[in-house]
Amino acid sequence: MESFPVTRIAESRKGQIDYNNLRFGVYFTDHIFVMDYSEGRWHSPRIEPNGPMAISPANMTFHYGQAVFEGQKAFRRPDGSIVLFRPDAHVARLNRSCRALCIPDVPEDTVLQGIRQVVELEREFVPSTRGHSLYIRPFVIAMDNLLGVQSSQSFRLIVLLSPVANYYPEGLKPVRLHVAQHHSRAARGGLGMAKTPANYAASLLPAKRAKEKGYTQVLWLDATEHKYVEEVGTMNIFFKINDELYTPPLDGDTILSGITRMSVIELCRSWGVPVHEQRVSIQRLFESFQAGELQEVFGTGTAAVVSPVGEIHYNNDSMSLNGESIGPMAQRLYDAITGIQYGDEADPFGWIHPVC
Ligand code: COI
Repeated sequence: MESFPVTRIAESRKGQIDYNNLRFGVYFTDHIFVMDYSEGRWHSPRIEPNGPMAISPANMTFHYGQAVFEGQKAFRRPDGSIVLFRPDAHVARLNRSCRALCIPDVPEDTVLQGIRQVVELEREFVPSTRGHSLYIRPFVIAMDNLLGVQSSQSFRLIVLLSPVANYYPEGLKPVRLHVAQHHSRAARGGLGMAKTPANYAASLLPAKRAKEKGYTQVLWLDATEHKYVEEVGTMNIFFKINDELYTPPLDGDTILSGITRMSVIELCRSWGVPVHEQRVSIQRLFESFQAGELQEVFGTGTAAVVSPVGEIHYNNDSMSLNGESIGPMAQRLYDAITGIQYGDEADPFGWIHPVC
């Protein structure tokens, strides 16, 4: 198999990582995988030391945000081996995001091979505690230095690695949601389906307001009518109503096609649990709650896997779900997905890609 050139770091930072107090995204490994795009082609795949980069203040990414990113994970199993979870689906989504931002498609095989090589090189960094993992953050930025608003002609792809704990320090503790009534995450015809910094920038102020009111996260409604539930925080959302699951459909291009979302749908269908990709209004949610039909609400994402919702606040109304503890479906899904990832469950779907 092709192996890309490696320039090694002079001194490892491994000793600086406090694995007993790991958090999300604060520590990074020694090396990154890098690839450049210029003169109409991706070239120069390589592994370099992870360190400060010289970038012009005129770099277009700073000014107009032409950038996309991904988030996937590598897991250390009890036998010491290291595996990736659905890396092919993540790279395919990276290219869907690229297309929405006028960034040329990355060569998927080269990126997958680069990820495998850099993860193998950094295998010592992959945590061994259950629930911890190596978060893999591929991203692409514009590299032209220009203040005119147009697409850059040159780009850089970087894969950064970070040993991480659970996204929420409280683990599977249910989150409390505040419904955003004046803000939206994404509008039809916009960038909602792309994993691009703009969507996360748009979430900061509403998230700050929700935190000030004592809530963990924002529940996003659609931007047109402010009626239909779209996402939760940085995650996709699921509702269990009368023993069937509902999640908003992807057809409006406002919702990120989560890899965990897709995995939840595939798992549930394999268990015979009906899943409807259907819009659910906030009003229907409250009516289902009042009728005793709303059993569970949970978010899904790579970082948190499954995150149960314990409370939703809307207008002056509030609903408390499942005694504010994790519901049986959220727990079953969390156990099934992490079981496949850490190797205590079989992998009938072919989601696991061994690295070393
Ligand atoms: C995820 O849940 O995987 C996310 O996208 C969160 C990430 C932005 C930290």
